[in-house]
Amino acid sequence: MSTPKKFQRTLVTSALPYANGEIHLGHLAGAYLPADIFVRFLRMQGRDVLYICGSDEYGVPITLTAEKEGISPKELVDRNYASIKKSFEGFGMSFDNFSQTSREIHTETSQSFFMDLHDQGLLKQKTTEQFFSPSQNRFLADRYIEGTCPKCDTAGARGDQCEKCGSSLDPTELIDPHNVLDNSPLELRETTHWFLPLAEWQPRLEKYSADHPEWKENVRNYCGSWFKDTLADRAATRDLGWGVPVPLPDHEGKVFYVWFEAPIGYISSTREWAADQGDPEAWRKWWQDPDTRLVHFIGKDNIFFHALMFPAMLMAHTEDYIVADNVPANEFLNLEGQKLSTSRNFAVWLPEYLEKFSADPLRYTLARNLPETRDMNFTWEGFLARNNNELGNNFGNLINRVFTFIHKYFEGRVPEWSEAMMTDLDRQALADVQADLEKYSAHMEKFEIKAAMEACFHAGQAGNRYFDESAPFKTRKTDLVRCGHSLGVIVQILRMLCLMLAPVVPFGMEKVWSWLGAETSLWQGGWDEGVKDIPAGRQLGKQEILFPRFEEEQIQAEIDRLKGLLAE
Ligand code: MF3
Ligand code: ZN
Repeated sequence: MSTPKKFQRTLVTSALPYANGEIHLGHLAGAYLPADIFVRFLRMQGRDVLYICGSDEYGVPITLTAEKEGISPKELVDRNYASIKKSFEGFGMSFDNFSQTSREIHTETSQSFFMDLHDQGLLKQKTTEQFFSPSQNRFLADRYIEGTCPKCDTAGARGDQCEKCGSSLDPTELIDPHNVLDNSPLELRETTHWFLPLAEWQPRLEKYSADHPEWKENVRNYCGSWFKDTLADRAATRDLGWGVPVPLPDHEGKVFYVWFEAPIGYISSTREWAADQGDPEAWRKWWQDPDTRLVHFIGKDNIFFHALMFPAMLMAHTEDYIVADNVPANEFLNLEGQKLSTSRNFAVWLPEYLEKFSADPLRYTLARNLPETRDMNFTWEGFLARNNNELGNNFGNLINRVFTFIHKYFEGRVPEWSEAMMTDLDRQALADVQADLEKYSAHMEKFEIKAAMEACFHAGQAGNRYFDESAPFKTRKTDLVRCGHSLGVIVQILRMLCLMLAPVVPFGMEKVWSWLGAETSLWQGGWDEGVKDIPAGRQLGKQEILFPRFEEEQIQAEIDRLKGLLAE
């Protein structure tokens, strides 16, 4: 295996969320929180990183919601965009730019991308028969078509598959096809569309995938299974009123297929960021310099588009685009042992969460439970336990006790501590936490956030054990010099804990960082300072309670709400 390439900078993206509703816990655990943690880790290390996202605003479901509400699709997505942006901010998502695919810059970017492929003759045009709804005067996407399954004769089979017998279907096979929305009959009509013939890119895609044995197993497995067959042509255009218009003559009513256009949104959002910086060409180094490392954080349902389709598009473009160096894809998060369901409202929505709780406890709980290699489960009881036992008892108490002690008995200054006074206990404690810090970093580099968190938790335990065993609460009365030395050692443990916790619970750790009297900004290379000793004599800030406890009743109300939904 070749040695991993050293990159100068990292471009991180999170899947563009649909602007068709709010963000829920499943989204956060999939494509958002892990990316934000990773980005904050890099920023802390002073590494050059850009974090790009935006909302995905075209497609059929959005037009339907807008119709239902009696507003235009643009009004709907603008409203949802504002609300998603606000809840992401409340949750501490640190995007450098959060754009919208309905903006002009994306229209331009995606149209010129399409034209580049088109003008090279890389797209092919095909005429097919598609179901048209005369009552609604439009072509329908597969999932809005229902009929009787030709295989098992059950009514109510969807255009793409029959739930009863599990056969995957082509809508034209359905008996008695009709429009799900108003039950009206459908007709087949001819329509012509542009396709990306992925088979032509298959050898390059297979090599690309083979060149990345370090990718997560789920991603490699998905790719492997697609490569068993010849990759099918993938639509680039659709008949629809709401989308980016195809910029060719005689293409009225045709727009880009969302999965063709949305990933280009990452580029548009980067261009928007560059323009906002006053350097409109600055996006190029992030997308076209081979020294840039591109990383897409996604949920597992997006693997095809990020590991095959979008890379093929980037390879096809005449300009030299980079392709993803990694595609960390997460599995799904269940809720109280059940699958999340947005249609039944069986979900925990971020804005509602943020009305009642702060961001850090949720970030922490999810980070400890990320569905990295298999589906995971979120429970409110688990949330309470993570907050009270881990954030509160393991970390919060230790931090609180140390600061309280130093303010009470040492005038808030880091007490004298020195190499000369080190006992085996002191050395061992520092070495343990140091080792955890190294493990933490190694896991973070590999997107193994749960394992990194495990190291962080372990370091917290080591810190507590040291506090108990060095017992400054006892030596205070018998040997004040020894007491001060032990506290000086614990301050060093706290600064390392602060580094490990910061990407996960940034709101709390920004405070701790300032109480520690740090001079640099945590998110601009704070790591360098954080790995160095804090000298005796430094004035510390006054602490406050970091992670208040939750009471059973608070949590029970949330459990009851979900139970009520299940009962309905
Ligand atoms: N909106 C899609 C989803 O939530 C993700 C789009 S990612 C993009 O599943 F790359 F296409 F933008
Ligand atoms: Zn069937």
